[in-house]
Amino acid sequence: MAILKIARMGHPVLKAKAEVVADPRAPEIARLAAHMIETMKDADGAGLAAPQVHAPRRVVVFRVPPAGDLPDRYAEAGLNEDTEGVPLTVLVNPEIEILGEETSDAFEGCLSLPGLVGKVPRFTHIRYRGTTPAGDSIEREAEGFHARVVQHECDHLDGILFPQRMVDMSTFGYRDEMRLENEQE
Ligand code: NI
Repeated sequence: MAILKIARMGHPVLKAKAEVVADPRAPEIARLAAHMIETMKDADGAGLAAPQVHAPRRVVVFRVPPAGDLPDRYAEAGLNEDTEGVPLTVLVNPEIEILGEETSDAFEGCLSLPGLVGKVPRFTHIRYRGTTPAGDSIEREAEGFHARVVQHECDHLDGILFPQRMVDMSTFGYRDEMRLENEQE
């Protein structure tokens, strides 16, 4: 396995629409996913999309561990004791269905914007579908932090970074400079 280089905001690969994977069971996809998982864990990320490692394919990996198993910064994104853990998941060609118009605001960061965070509205309740590299279908409903992570990662496949989803740009900045503990909602 390998730790891959992560593209940062401004790189063209992050702006492009990623290609649909014709064969989710192709060995190269399993290999890509394994490298992505390694890279995500190394960077303490909750998720990673293939374009972030210069692979413009529709593949995402993510995990929702119990609160406390990820750095404190995930509390700002709504990860708390009530968050139900979700095992490490690889989705090939994921699709999201919005369940209800309700949205919630929380701070997000991104491995492609190191050090930066901003408050992003996301749909609270979604259903998503995708295929695993083993060829199995996954269909799940997700809420809260879990739904947020999936929406963030799938946005990467359409060339969208979290600042493009922000409404209040005054909440965008370097995490180290902010006093987020006073801004919990
Ligand atoms: Ni990201």
